[in-house]
Formats: sequence, structure tokens, C-alpha cells
Amino acid sequence: MPKVFIKTYGCQMNERDSEQVARMFTEGGYTVTGDESDADAILVNTCSVRDQAEQKAIGKMTHMARHRARKPHVVYGFMGCMAQSRGAELFQNVPHLDVVVGTQKYHKVFEYVDGILSKRLERRMDELELSMTGESVCDIEEEEGSQNTIRDHVTENINPSSFVSIMQGCNMKCSYCIVPDTRGKERGRPISDIVEEVKKLRDRGVVEVTLLGQIVNLYGRTEFDKIDGKSPFVQLLEQVSDVDGIERIRFTSPHPIGYRDDLVAAFTYLPKLCSHIHFPMQSGSDTILRAMRRPYKNEKFVEICEKMKAARPDMAITTDIIVGFPGETEQDFQDTVDTVKRLQFDNAFVFRYSPRRNTPAAEMENQLPESVKEERNQALLSVVNEIAIRKNDALVGTEQEILCTGASKNNKETLSGRTSQNKIVIFNGDHDRMTGKIFPVKVEESTGFTLYGTPVIH
Ligand code: 5AD
Ligand code: SF4
Repeated sequence: MPKVFIKTYGCQMNERDSEQVARMFTEGGYTVTGDESDADAILVNTCSVRDQAEQKAIGKMTHMARHRARKPHVVYGFMGCMAQSRGAELFQNVPHLDVVVGTQKYHKVFEYVDGILSKRLERRMDELELSMTGESVCDIEEEEGSQNTIRDHVTENINPSSFVSIMQGCNMKCSYCIVPDTRGKERGRPISDIVEEVKKLRDRGVVEVTLLGQIVNLYGRTEFDKIDGKSPFVQLLEQVSDVDGIERIRFTSPHPIGYRDDLVAAFTYLPKLCSHIHFPMQSGSDTILRAMRRPYKNEKFVEICEKMKAARPDMAITTDIIVGFPGETEQDFQDTVDTVKRLQFDNAFVFRYSPRRNTPAAEMENQLPESVKEERNQALLSVVNEIAIRKNDALVGTEQEILCTGASKNNKETLSGRTSQNKIVIFNGDHDRMTGKIFPVKVEESTGFTLYGTPVIH
């Protein structure tokens, strides 16, 4: 049985896309391996959002060429955002590359890879000299309906918490962002298809779903109507909430545009919605928000956060922030720091601005030196971390309801779970009995970012 190894960089959407690809390989008779040296096909699902992400993917792919020495038939492929944005030029960067597949063609990866692998294996059997020429495939075309192809899940090692991709693409034009280029226009899947997928997951023991979209709250706005003042996204939340057996619902990531009161209100009457949103702020300065072409003011962002905390007093909010955007002054940066202090985020990803090809910000003249970006990155991180640590410390001594998702990543002897606020708690217990269950845990210790506790039996 041939084996496929899939390495994923980037966002949760990419993880979900990789799962779809994995499923197609297992259906085609492959096994998925976690050991690249054992694989007949090696795929890297790539991210383009920052230069560092691209360099990592290229570095990894280059390094993995060594497996070809021992196994000359191995097929190598790039898929996802960097494949989409760089296309065939990747064959020049990475000479052993065979396949480049963009973000609207994940469902074709199996066909391309298996086609090449079968030919190579046949040739080897016939003891013909292995020739690698003329075999490569590059497919980065758009495809209508491609959002509907990310719908199947792996059938082994099912995680009780699953991702569901509800849409593709983004119609915003943030001046720093490559995503509209790599993921195309907003395209939503029909509500009924998504609900069917959620029911199938439920039948396999999934209890928590995270609905994924580039701007998830804008789901369906170009395809479906509002009903009773409710956006298509809120209609979807209601219907997913009606699925018996699904106990928790999350979504990521929302945008301030289209974050209206119907969505705020959903948190008051849909108890399955978890008390956490990952809500990218990007900057706390109106000048920078304008330069980023984000069409709202900082005050609007703050107002939505406050409404969310009023709707759910235990609401945790995490965010993304870019520092060192072209033209960001000390005052602009200070406005960001002040907003972080004011909103008391539970955590934040802080990114140094990275110029991306074909984006307006990359052409701006007032680019900042790396040293300034680095300095602001460190300064902001220390503010973010202090708040995050203080909030976690405050949970010591409390009982938190968690969903146990199985063995913890770093120590397989212990179990891991997440609170509704998305905080990780590590504890001891019976793996088979507890995985997929929701129960209270008494938090006993905090090491800053991770909580440790003991399950409570009432
Ligand atoms: N440079 C740095 N960070 C970026 N992001 C998106 N584009 C860039 C860029 N050019 C960040 C944003 C986004 C997150 C996924 O990545 O904060 O929310
Ligand atoms: Fe990276 Fe954005 Fe593509 Fe996700 S959608 S992989 S974050 S570039």
C-alpha cells in the first residue's frame, strides 16, 4: 500500500484542506504516514501570509529531497496558498518538485500525485530507466463550486473537535494581505450541506465543531438572503445548534465589518456557542487602519468587543495584531498598546509586517526597518503576555468545564482539554473513557499559558 506524508503550514483552514486531501488518498488505497522517510508521496500544504511561512515550506521541501536518493519514485507536491500565488515558478525554486496545486484544486491532488506515482512504479517494475521529465503538473486554475469540495473527513483517529469549512475566499482588500489573491472571491457552501456534514461528524462521535471561513461572519452574504433580520451566518449557527449531539460550536475568524447585533445576540440564546472569539484587530490606530484599508475605526472594534462581553460575561477574546506596518509611528503603536490594555485580550498573535507580492502596502514608501518591527513586536508581546498570564493565574482554584480531546501533545501520559474560553487544561485520567466527554476540572496550577487540573466527580 503506498504511503502519503502531508505537512501543513498556516491556518486552520489549511489544516482542514489537508484533512480533505488525506481522506482522498485513503479512499484511493493509500495510508497516511507521519514519517516522511517512509512515504511514496510527500505533500506540503503552504501558507503565503508572511514571508517566513513561505521560506519554511520551501526549506522543508528542499530538505525532504534527500528521500529521493533512496526512493527515486517519491512524488513531491506543493499545494495551497503559496502554490496558488507562485505557481510554476516553484519548479525553479525546488528542482525535485513534481506537482503544484492551488487552493481551488485540492480535490485534484490525489489524481495528479497518484498518476505520477503509478507511472513511476510501473516503469520501475519494467526495469526501464527512470526518467522524471515531462511529468510535472501545475494546476492553479479557478474552479466554480470548489468551496463545496472540502466536505469529507478522515475516518481514523477522529478528533472529538472538528473543523468544518463553510466558505472560501475573501472580498476585502486589506492592503497588506495576500489572501484575496490566493483564495479568490467569497464563496459560501449551502447551509443544508454544512448541516449534513455536521450530522455525519456527530454520528462519528464529534461533539465540537469549529466553522471556518476567511471572514466567517460574512458567510453567504452574496448568495443567501437575510431572514427576520438575521444574516446567513446567524441562520447557519442556529441550524448547526439544532444538531443533537453537537455540544459546542466555535467559529473563526470574524471581521468587524458585518459583525452586527444579530450575531452578538446569538451568544445570548445559543448556549452551544463557546465563550470565545478570535477577533483580529490588526491595529489600534485609526491612521494605520485606514492605510491597511480596513473600513472601520478602532472605536467600532472596541464597541463590538464590549457588546460581546455584555452578551457573555465570561467571553474570552483573542486577536491578531500586525506591528511595523508602513508609516506606523510611535504614537500609532502606542494606540495599539493602549487598546490591548483597554480590551484585556486573553491572548494575541503579534506579527511583524511582512511585505507580500502584489499587495498595495508592499509598494508604500514608508516601510519601517526590521529593527523597529522587532522592537515593537517584543514590547507588545510583553504587554499581551502579562495580561494572558494574569488571566490564567486567576483561574487557579476554579472549576472549568472542559471538552477532553485526548492525549496531550507534549506528554502522551496526560490528557488535554479546552474550556469554553479555549484555554488548554492538562490533567490525568482514563484516555478511552474521557476522550470526547465534557466535564468539570478543578484548576490547580497555571504555568502562564497552560493550566493543570484534576477532573471533578460530583
Ligand atoms: N504581514 C504580517 N502579518 C500579516 N497577516 C496577514 N498579512 C500579513 C502581512 N503581510 C496576519 C494578520 C492576519 C493573520 C492571519 O496574519 O494579522 O490576521
Ligand atoms: Fe496562510 Fe491565509 Fe492561506 Fe491560511 S488562507 S494558509 S493564513 S495565506
